[in-house]
Amino acid sequence: MIGKLNHVGVAVPSIEAAKATYRDLYGVPASDITETKELPPQGVRYAFVNLPNSQIELIEPLGETSPIRKFLEKNPNGGQHHVCFEVEDIYAARDEMVVRGATVLNEPRIGAHGTPVIFIHPKNSNGVLIELMETPKGAHG
Ligand code: CO
Repeated sequence: MIGKLNHVGVAVPSIEAAKATYRDLYGVPASDITETKELPPQGVRYAFVNLPNSQIELIEPLGETSPIRKFLEKNPNGGQHHVCFEVEDIYAARDEMVVRGATVLNEPRIGAHGTPVIFIHPKNSNGVLIELMETPKGAHG
């Protein structure tokens, strides 16, 4: 069973511009917006906007083969890209999702929070791409 909503992923053409939106339009303190980092194996640059109960993950394409690139061609201004739920054990979750007939898009790999993640095809969830992320060890709450 899925646990906490960890974050909502939003694909954007410019992380810096999107950060300014969350800061200036929605009043998120700059101290709650993380530095932009790169995750070359996943073809993304990313930053998090910390909210009291969750996070927004801003993702921007990194490299010509980035999977985000096609999404932005269809949604040039950006758009909601995925929703991420926490699970206790990513390998157990992967095996269970396969048993339940879901299309798991990748082998567990390290995600933006430093713990392994998998993605579930949008066709299994009303058109929503779902990321399952192993809860960071020692995380509270
Ligand atoms: Co994510």
